[in-house]
Amino acid sequence: MSIKVINKIDELRETLKELRCESKSIGLVPTMGCLHAGHKSLIEKAHSLADITVVSVFVNPIQFCPGEDYDKYPRTLDDDKIAAESSGADIIFAPSVNEMYPNLQKFSDLTMVVPPYELTDIMCGKSRVGHFDGVETVVTKLFNIVQPDIACFGMKDIQQLFLIKKMVKDLNIPVEIISCPLVREASGLALSSRNKYLSDEDKKIALSLNKALNAIKQGYEIGIKDTKKLFDIGLTNLNKNVELEYLEFVNESNFRHTDEINKATICALAARVGNVRLIDNIVIEV
Ligand code: PAF
Repeated sequence: MSIKVINKIDELRETLKELRCESKSIGLVPTMGCLHAGHKSLIEKAHSLADITVVSVFVNPIQFCPGEDYDKYPRTLDDDKIAAESSGADIIFAPSVNEMYPNLQKFSDLTMVVPPYELTDIMCGKSRVGHFDGVETVVTKLFNIVQPDIACFGMKDIQQLFLIKKMVKDLNIPVEIISCPLVREASGLALSSRNKYLSDEDKKIALSLNKALNAIKQGYEIGIKDTKKLFDIGLTNLNKNVELEYLEFVNESNFRHTDEINKATICALAARVGNVRLIDNIVIEV
């Protein structure tokens, strides 16, 4: 069947109800659109695991902080349809803001899902205050609307992935979260919809993010275990025009800062290249 675009919650629910009656399993790939090869890999994964793949395309206003790029975030639904369909999606759910939040003017009136403070007072959550409340709220709404058997999320947004897995466990949401590998350009740059904002010059500068992470990993592999030293190796490898927001070592199992590097250590960073905020991460020991 060719891909169906649905804008209304009731229509999506009705369509999925019929499919469920036919014993079809449902996979969900939540996105904000502007689909790239990273998203395509999530859709392909969902398609390989479920009978029906739903891709949500919704630029979620409540996960953007004041002064962030909500207004200029790329909206490319026509291209997204082509990318989603060629990756195996059956349905695009593209609701309006009003459909998802009929009373958004009264934001303080909205019931929110709020992750624990100590897990958001680090890394991206520290500078993007309230961001993960917005993410968890919209993802919970999408889970309630779609009621998927599985949902695929990328490891590029590693803190988001950790928080969503925890939320699903803590709130007993009956969905299996599938973690999918981070996808990079051949150059090593992590794929992101925000790469569209980068000039060619910025892209060259942004490559040093991956270079810094690889240098840290290599440093570890030749025997450097001290996170302070590894941090400095990372800094040395960052282009001088990169404005570093954080470079953090966290334990994969609890997402707390660690000075002891072991199998489960993730090194993650966020940085600005020009006005563009980028994130990347690497697992130190695999
Ligand atoms: O990762 C994203 O694109 C968004 O945070 C998500 C999960 C689609 C929620 O809006």
